[in-house]
Amino acid sequence: MGNNPCGLNDAFFCCCAGTWQNAARAMPSSTLCCPSLAMSPTTGCLFVIIVLHICGTLFYDFNLMIFCIFVFPAILGRECYCFVFHIVNNIRMALKRVMVLTGGGDCPGLNAVIRGIVKRASQERDWEVVGCIESFNGVLREPTEVVVLDEKSVEGLQIQGGTILGTTNKGGPFEWPVRQHDGSWISVDRSDEMIRKLGYMGIDAVINIGGDGSQRISLGLSKKGLNVVGVPKTIDNDLSLTDYTFGFQTAVQICTEAIDKLVTTAASHNRVFIVEVMGRDAGWIALHSAIAGGADVCVIPEIPYDIHKIKEKIEQRYNKRRGYCIIVVAEGAVPVGGGVTGVETGEVGYQHIKLGGIGEQLADDLKAAGVEHDIRYTILGHLQRGGTPIAFDRVLASEFGVKAMEFVLEGRFGQMVAYHHPDVVGIPLEEAVREQNLVGINSQLVHTAKGLGISFGD
Ligand code: F6P
Repeated sequence: MGNNPCGLNDAFFCCCAGTWQNAARAMPSSTLCCPSLAMSPTTGCLFVIIVLHICGTLFYDFNLMIFCIFVFPAILGRECYCFVFHIVNNIRMALKRVMVLTGGGDCPGLNAVIRGIVKRASQERDWEVVGCIESFNGVLREPTEVVVLDEKSVEGLQIQGGTILGTTNKGGPFEWPVRQHDGSWISVDRSDEMIRKLGYMGIDAVINIGGDGSQRISLGLSKKGLNVVGVPKTIDNDLSLTDYTFGFQTAVQICTEAIDKLVTTAASHNRVFIVEVMGRDAGWIALHSAIAGGADVCVIPEIPYDIHKIKEKIEQRYNKRRGYCIIVVAEGAVPVGGGVTGVETGEVGYQHIKLGGIGEQLADDLKAAGVEHDIRYTILGHLQRGGTPIAFDRVLASEFGVKAMEFVLEGRFGQMVAYHHPDVVGIPLEEAVREQNLVGINSQLVHTAKGLGISFGD
């Protein structure tokens, strides 16, 4: 990274390419470059008039700006042209900038948040929104990858899944992976360097949309003096102090629809069907979709299961070999006295265990425990994170986006927006990441599930 603020700003606006181009337009770098010049008193007076117009309420009138930049100069010559460019450039530099980014696993509703932020910001005269590509990587990498986001670039985004800015759940400013000469990887803290660079880029505030890992990064940067607002995201719904995170309800809907489909095939073949859903530490998706889909067994990380209890429930569901059984299991579920099912990744800056396979494990364990019925398992995996958000998540994400931008306008930094029905409030980041939102074993929802005859294998 160089120390020249102007150089950085040029790079900052220049980077917009490939797939991002449709969604977000880069500011032409030419608007930021102008040679210095001397001018005559006559042209100087005219320039002052033009500049006053530009600075006035009509500055945002594109036609007037074009007129000032191209028509006047055409009459008055090149000096005027360069001067106006210089002034316009300086006025642009005086704009306040908020940088938005998406971190962690993608999630339906991320684009709706981005749209909410941009739409709210566009109602202010002096704020500009820029998007950082792939979480903080867009700032940490050279060349910088940041794009200007305006109302046009977010048109209709509320229905789009994924994130137009890209995302990553690896690395970050505090744990940047660096390859050593011997091929091994270490992680280095680049947070101070990144904060300095954001200063050079004229970034006044950052809105970080992400899950618990991302909000821990928000907290760390906020403690170092960066103006950060957090927006909670995760399909797992495991962030505490918000009633819901967006994306969760969409994931539940996807799982419920899958269970509905599996019920008909399970019933036709008298099979036991195991549906593996996401939920690393929290069983919210499993629990909600098990209730909504009418499952018989729900296995979640918060309640270690006993394979014999699950077998008992299966046998209750069959009468002389006829019947079927639906088991919903969260990927982070554990047997009594056992650990999670997954593979060690050993990747620097990534979660150490990549979960997956509990469905197959359960099938094997049930057979080993003496279940003789036909057993099949289905892993829903990333299907749960893909596609368009349902209406609830579009609304929640839009509320979060608008509120996050309002926090920026009010200077309420170091906070995470949170949903406390029916309001969207601010929670200090420190509190927001203190503990996870897990399913309470004595909660109303578990009580309801048990009342419906759902077994947790406990
Ligand atoms: O955090 C959300 C989540 O969907 C978890 O439930 C799951 O373990 C993880 O992301 C999967 O991440 P990846 O996309 O790296 O496989």
